[in-house]
Amino acid sequence: MANPLLSRDVEAYLERLVPARPPELAAMEAYARAHRFPIIGPVAGNFCYALARMIGARRVFEMGSGFGYSTAWFARAVKENGGGTVFHVVWDEELSRRARGDLDAMGYGEIVQYRVGEAVQVLRDTEGSFDLIFNDIDKEAYPQALPVIAEKVRSGGLLIMDNALWHGRVADPRDQSPSTESIREATRMVSMDPNWIGVVAPVRDGLLIAYRR
Ligand SMILES: C[S@@+](CC[C@H](N)C(=O)[O-])C[C@H]1O[C@@H](n2cnc3c(N)ncnc32)[C@H](O)[C@@H]1O
Repeated sequence: MANPLLSRDVEAYLERLVPARPPELAAMEAYARAHRFPIIGPVAGNFCYALARMIGARRVFEMGSGFGYSTAWFARAVKENGGGTVFHVVWDEELSRRARGDLDAMGYGEIVQYRVGEAVQVLRDTEGSFDLIFNDIDKEAYPQALPVIAEKVRSGGLLIMDNALWHGRVADPRDQSPSTESIREATRMVSMDPNWIGVVAPVRDGLLIAYRR
């Protein structure tokens, strides 16, 4: 899923700047390519990892974790921050099982907790607050997820929302599809809300980064 703003050369340049990563992570990237499974990829993964390290995140909640690629970046950050918990949440049992195998093999067995279910509901039902919430669920559900996220992210914590640029479709006024409209709506909600400081970083397909006041 290419960044709509960058040439292939610039994308490749940014990817070369990502420090060497464990072979398991590279194998997950190859699996995603082979199965055309959408993952955040190394540049956005490294960006998320850096943010999680910067705020010293120890409790991370992921919404829409797929087979655990993005989870691996957050688990690495949490481990380096001194340990804690990353919730891997997806509604597909098979993806959850696959993620557990890979993340255990990478040494994150103590850190990652697995939940199979609808991510907004699981977040609502999970005790406690979070340093960082990463949202990568179906795009139509982005607006309705926000009030729950706002309740669960701690003051001084972060929301990261993937696909904020949606391959450039958000900037095309003719595109009024439900997914595009929902991403616009969620981005607007965060931008207008004085309780968030939000910015869209044009990393890969766009990451909305929002700091909870
Ligand atoms: C874009 S993929 C996740 C990729 C993952 N974040 C990564 O970068 O490695 C989104 C995944 O979340 C699942 N999903 C979408 N909406 C969901 C929801 N509301 N609750 C739980 N899982 C959801 C999808 O079936 C898919 O497996």
